Amino acid sequence: MTPGGAPRILRRRPVFLLRGCVPAGGAGRVPRLTPGFPRPVAQRARKSPLARIPDDKIDAVREATDLVELVSRYLPLKRSGGTYKACCPFHREKTPSFVVWPETQTWKCFGCGRGGGVFQFLMERDGLTFPEAVRALAREAGIELAPRGPGEAAEEGRRAALYEVMEWAARFYEAALRSPAGRPAVEYLKRRGIEGVTAKRFRLGFAPDGWRNLREAAGRRGFDADLLLAAGLVRPGTSGSYDWFRGRLMFPIRDVRGRVIAFGARTLGDDEPKYLNSPDTALFKKGRTLYGLHLAREEVRRGGRLGLVEGYTDVLLAHQSGIPWFVAALGTGLTREHAELIRRYAKRVDLVYDADEAGARAAERAFDAFLQHEVDIRVARLPGGLDPCAFLGKEGKEAFLSVIDKGEQVFEFLLARAAAEHDLDTVAGQIAAVDRMLSSVARISNVVRRDLLLRRIAEEFRVSEAAVRDRLKVFSGPREAVEVGTAPEAGFRVGGTEERLVLQAALFRSSLAARLREAWPPDRFRHPHHRAIAEAILSRIGSEGGGDGEEDAPLDPGGVMARLADPASAEILSGILADGRGKTDFERQFEDCVARLDLRRRIAEAGAALARARAAGDAGEIRRLERELFRLKSKMR
Ligand code: CTP
Ligand code: MN
Repeated sequence: MTPGGAPRILRRRPVFLLRGCVPAGGAGRVPRLTPGFPRPVAQRARKSPLARIPDDKIDAVREATDLVELVSRYLPLKRSGGTYKACCPFHREKTPSFVVWPETQTWKCFGCGRGGGVFQFLMERDGLTFPEAVRALAREAGIELAPRGPGEAAEEGRRAALYEVMEWAARFYEAALRSPAGRPAVEYLKRRGIEGVTAKRFRLGFAPDGWRNLREAAGRRGFDADLLLAAGLVRPGTSGSYDWFRGRLMFPIRDVRGRVIAFGARTLGDDEPKYLNSPDTALFKKGRTLYGLHLAREEVRRGGRLGLVEGYTDVLLAHQSGIPWFVAALGTGLTREHAELIRRYAKRVDLVYDADEAGARAAERAFDAFLQHEVDIRVARLPGGLDPCAFLGKEGKEAFLSVIDKGEQVFEFLLARAAAEHDLDTVAGQIAAVDRMLSSVARISNVVRRDLLLRRIAEEFRVSEAAVRDRLKVFSGPREAVEVGTAPEAGFRVGGTEERLVLQAALFRSSLAARLREAWPPDRFRHPHHRAIAEAILSRIGSEGGGDGEEDAPLDPGGVMARLADPASAEILSGILADGRGKTDFERQFEDCVARLDLRRRIAEAGAALARARAAGDAGEIRRLERELFRLKSKMR
C-alpha cells in the first residue's frame, strides 16, 4: 500500500507556492497590489532576499515533521529492519538505494550520494531554497515563523510584489501577441518554425511598439512606478518612466519553479541589439538562471543528462522536437553557480554549438565552471554552421541526437584546441600549449582527477610528466590557496578523513561533542563543509543547555542536519551518519583522529618554516627543521 497517493500530492501542492505567486492555471486571478508598497526599492536591492529564520523556529518545524510521512507522500517506502527503502527519486535506478532512518530523521541515497533531513528532501524534490523549505513545512505544521523584523516582512512583501508584477507582465505580453498588433511577431515565429503549442508552453509574448503601453496598463492595475522600475520593466526618463521593451518578441525567463523572473526580448527586424534582456533584479541573477530549466528539470533528472545550447530559439526547437532536456545559459556561458545547480540533476552535460569559436569559448567556460564537480562534459558541433534551431528544423531530432551523441570529452576538446593553436614543433609553442592547459588544471582540487589530466597533457604535448608537474607549480601559487579554502574535496589532502571521523565520533557521543570545541574547534577544520557541520554540532550543544555529557546518548543528528542550509554539507553529514552506524569505539576514534590532525598541522608548520629557512639559507635551522620534520612524519606513518 502506498501511504500517500497522487490526489494527496495535488491537494498539498499550493503549500509550496510563495505568497503572491499565482498557481499555474489560475489565470485571471492576479491579485491587486496593496497601496503603500514600500519605496524606495532600488537602494535595498542588495539586501539578502530573506532574513534568517531563528534556529529555535527551525528546530520546532523539524520536530513537528515526520520524515517517513513526508517522504511517503512521494515514494512508496518499504520497511526493512529499522529503516525504510525506496528507489531514489533523484536519479534513475532499478534497485532501491534510497534509505530513510526514522530514529535520526535523516535520509541518504547510496546511489547518487544525496542526503539530508526533512528540509533537504523538500529542497531536492521541489527545487526550494532552505528557507523556502522551512517555510513550507512550518505552514503545514501550523507554526508561525513570525515575529519577523519589520525589515524582513517588507523584504518578503517586496519579492512577492515583484513576482506578481512579472507574472502580470508575462500575461500582458502574451495577450499582445494574440492581438492584431502581435501579427508581425506571429509571422516571425512561423518563419522560424515555432509552433503555437511551443509558443504557449514557453509563454512567448509580444511587447507592443510605443513608449507607454505597459506602463499605463500597469498603472490601471494598481502597480506603482517604483515596482515597475525595480522589476526592470520600465526605465526612468525625463518625462516619467517609459517601457523598456518595445516592438519585440518576448521570452519570459522563469526560475526552476516556473515563476517569471525576467524577460529576453528579440527584435523582429535587424536593429541592434538583437536581444534586450531584463537587468539583474532582486528575483533575477543572470549567471544563476538557465532558460527552460523548469520545463527540462524532470527529464534531466530522469535521464541524468542536460543539453546546453546558446539561444532561446534553440531551446524552443529542442523541446518542440521531443528533446525536452535542453536549456540555455543567458548569453553568459556557464558559471560556477550554474554548475552547482546542474550537478544536482545531471551527470552529463552536452554543449551544442554552431560555430568553432563559440564552441571553444563555451567549452572553456564550462570546464572552468565544473572544475570541482565530477560531471561528464561533452562538446558537439553541428555541421554546416547551422544553429540548433535551424538544424532541428531542417534535419530533425534523430540527426541532431546522433551529432550530440558523438560529442567530444571537454578536456580532449580543449587539448586539441590548444594543440591546434600553438606550433608544437617549437619549444615556445609547446610551453604555451602546456601552460594554457595547466592554468585550468592547477585549480582542480581533486588530486586523482588532476593527476590523470596531467598525464594526458604530458602525453599530448610530448613532454615528460615530471616537467609538467614541475611547471604546474607556477600556476598553483596563491591562486590555488584560495581555491583550496573553498573547494569541497580539498580537505582530503589535509586530513579530510580524520576530520570526518572526528565529526562522526562527536555525532554519536554527546560527551565527545561537548569536547569538540577545545579538542578541534570549527576554524581548524580545513574542509569547509566539515567546518559547517562542526559549527552545527556546537550550536546544538548550546541549544541543549550545557550538555556536558552526563548522559552519553548520541546528539540528535536530525537537529544538526536542520542547521545546515547548504545541501552539500547536508549530503556529507548524511554520509558520515550512514558510515557511523554500528560502530562502537568512538572515544578511541576521536582521540586518534584529533592526534593525527594535530600532527598534520605540526608537519605543515614545520614544512613552512623549513621553506623559509631554505630561502634564508640558514644551514643550522634547515638541519634542525629537517630532523624535526622527519621525526613528525615518522609518527604519522
Ligand atoms: N544574447 C543576448 N544579447 C544579445 C545577443 C545574444 O543576451 N545581444 C543571448 C541570448 O540569450 C541569445 C543567446 O545569447 O538567445 C544566443 O545568441 P544568438 O545565437 O545571437 O541568438 P539566438 O537566440 O540564437 O537568436 P536567433 O537564432 O533568433 O538569431
Ligand atoms: Mn540562433
